[in-house]
Amino acid sequence: IEKIVLMFIIAYLLGSIPSGVWIGKAFFHIDIRRHGSGNIGTTNTYRVLGPIAGSVVMAMDISKGAVATLLPMFFHVATINPLLFGLAAILGHTFSVFDKFKGGKAVATSAGMLLAYKPSFFFLAAGIWILIILLTSMVSLASIITFPCITIATFFIHDTYLFILAAVLTVFIIYRHWANIKRILHGNERMVPFGLGNLL
Ligand code: G3P
Repeated sequence: IEKIVLMFIIAYLLGSIPSGVWIGKAFFHIDIRRHGSGNIGTTNTYRVLGPIAGSVVMAMDISKGAVATLLPMFFHVATINPLLFGLAAILGHTFSVFDKFKGGKAVATSAGMLLAYKPSFFFLAAGIWILIILLTSMVSLASIITFPCITIATFFIHDTYLFILAAVLTVFIIYRHWANIKRILHGNERMVPFGLGNLL
């Protein structure tokens, strides 16, 4: 049981690492929380610091969720569902101990959990996400639409825990994107400089 508590602490601390904030401060002397959308995730890092920094933050945030989900394998613990450690990392990412219990919007870390737990679902999610970005040029809209789709897909593989977690994450991600949803409805959401959304 001590091992499991330790694993939860590691997963939470891993998730808590505010990659975007640290990369911005370390390499650009910029606090991304004060620019763009103010979010600490991939999209805002890309927006404020460019594609290389954005890609690094995406890789780090996906890794946080993936490594946390793989902890039971590393620690040889088979009695507990690995998704719970992915969830701990997601909670770390959104309520970070290194960022006054604030944080990101849970998208990349959740994707990392999927990558470790069910890679095919990660690629399905990535495909949907990229497609919607290319169609609308709005990353937030892609993030909001992807998770309900994944929830529907999990329903068909009869994995009850993944289904429940995907449904919970869908609600949580929509909640974390509330400001984005308001901007989308008002027609003033920030766009990426590619995709069909720019033509409209
Ligand atoms: O994952 C975050 C993304 O969906 C939206 O980011 O910075 O546009 O609020 P942002």
